[in-house]
Amino acid sequence: MRRVVLEGRGNFEEWRKAARAFAAAGILPHEIDWHEKSNEPGFAFQRDALPPDPPANSKPMTVPPAFMTLAEAVICHSDPKRFSLLYSLLWRIQENRHLLDLSSDEEVSRARLMQKSVYRDAHKMTAFVRFKEVAAPAGGRRKFTAWFEPDHYVVARKASFFQRRFTDMDWLIATPKGSAAWNGERLTISNAPCEKPDISDATDDLWRTYYANIFNPARLKVKAMHAEMPKKYWKNLPEADLIPGLIADAEAKVLAMAERGATMPLPYHNRIQEAAARMPVPEMAPAGTLEALREDAAVCSQCPLHARATQTVFGEGPVDAKIMFVGEQPGDQEDLAGRPFVGPAGKVFDDAIAQAGIDRSRLYVTNAVKHFKYEPRGKRRIHQRPNLGEVQQCRWWLKLELDLIKPKVIVAMGATALYSLTGEKQKLEDLRGRPIAMEEGRMLFVTVHPSYLLRIPDEERKARELARFRQDMNLIKGLAA
Ligand code: URA
Repeated sequence: MRRVVLEGRGNFEEWRKAARAFAAAGILPHEIDWHEKSNEPGFAFQRDALPPDPPANSKPMTVPPAFMTLAEAVICHSDPKRFSLLYSLLWRIQENRHLLDLSSDEEVSRARLMQKSVYRDAHKMTAFVRFKEVAAPAGGRRKFTAWFEPDHYVVARKASFFQRRFTDMDWLIATPKGSAAWNGERLTISNAPCEKPDISDATDDLWRTYYANIFNPARLKVKAMHAEMPKKYWKNLPEADLIPGLIADAEAKVLAMAERGATMPLPYHNRIQEAAARMPVPEMAPAGTLEALREDAAVCSQCPLHARATQTVFGEGPVDAKIMFVGEQPGDQEDLAGRPFVGPAGKVFDDAIAQAGIDRSRLYVTNAVKHFKYEPRGKRRIHQRPNLGEVQQCRWWLKLELDLIKPKVIVAMGATALYSLTGEKQKLEDLRGRPIAMEEGRMLFVTVHPSYLLRIPDEERKARELARFRQDMNLIKGLAA
C-alpha cells in the first residue's frame, strides 16, 4: 500500500500531479492510501515518494471535459475521502467514457453530491461576505476586511468574482480555510488558515437599514428563508439579529399594507428608470468559463428584477455550440425550473427546431434578460415586458455568453433580443429571414419570438406564421452547416 499525503485545501494541481504519476505507474486505486495533511493534527508528514516521471513516450490517461469540471469542484470539498474517490473515478472512466452519466453509480453520486455542496458553499460566500472598513494609510485607497466561514475550500474558486465586483477598493477575505486579498493590482490567495479578525464598523448599521427596508413581509416564506440563509451564517451577518423581529411583525405589516391599498410610484420613479436606461454598462473583466459565469450570474442583483424572481435563469448548452438562440426573458415555468424555454413558448420552439432537424442539445439557448419580470394577479404571475434599463443591465451577461460561446449564428427571437444584441431599436420585419453579418465573422438571424405565435387568435394566420417560423429554422440550420 502506498501512502500519499496531500496538503489538500482545494489544490487541484497537487492532486492531479500525484494521480498522474500513480496512474502512469499502473498503481490501482485500492493500492493507495490517500491522506490530507491539514485534517490530521500531529500527523507525521511522511509519505511514500511519488513514482518517477513516466517515460516521455508512455500514453497518459485521458478524461472527458466533464470529469475535469467535476474533479475541480470535488477537490475543494473538505471530505478527506475525495482524493481516493476521484482516483477511483479516474480509473473507471478509462473503461467507460460515459461513467459520469450514470447517476445511479454510487461513486458518481457521491462525487455529484460533493460538487453540489461545493457550488452551494461558493454561492453562499458570494451572498454572505460582509466587508467592514479598516484603517488605511492617509491618502491611500480604502481598505476592507471580511470574515467568512465556508464549509469547503472555496476561497480560491470565488476570489476572481470578488475581484471583478470590488475592483476599486483594497480588500481581504479571511476564512479558517485560507484567504484572498486584492490591492488594485494583484490578487493574492493563501491556503493558510486565518484567525477571526476583530472588526465591526458603521457599515453594519447600513446593512441593517438596507435589510430592514428590502424585507418584504408579504413575500415571507420562513422555510425558504432559512434554506437560503442557513443559521450557521447568521453569526457573521450584521443584519441577522433583525430577522426574528421582522418575522414576528410580518403578519401585522401585511394587514396594514392591504388596508392602505395600492399607491402610485413616486414622481422620481420614471426619471430613475430613464436614467438607468442611459447608464453605460460597466466594463468588467469577463469570467473565464461558462460555469464561473453561471455562478456569478446566480447572484446578480444589478437590477430590481432579481428581488422578485425565484432565481437567475442563465443560458444553457455546450460551450462549442455553433448556434445561439436568444429569447426575451424567462417565463413563469422557466423561473421555477431555472432553465430557458421549458414552458409553452419552449414547446413551440422545440417543435420548430425538431422539424428542421436541429438537435437542441447542440444549441446554446439563452435570454436577453435573465430574471422573470411579472405582475402578481391573484395566484398568477403575469408576464411583463422588461424595460430598456433592465435589458441594458443584462446585456453584460449576454455579451459574456457570446464571448465564451463564439457562435457562428446568433438568432434573435423577438424585438427584445434584437435590441439586446444590436443596441438599436429596429423593426423585426425589416431584418427578418436573412443573415446579417456581425463582428468576428458571426451572423445574426432575426425571427419572431415563439410566444408571439401562441398569441395569434386567428387560426389560419397562426398556421401561416408558424410555417414561416419553421421555414426560418430551416434557414438557420443551413447557415450553421
Ligand atoms: N420566453 C422567453 O423569451 N424565454 C424563455 O426562456 C421562455 C419564454
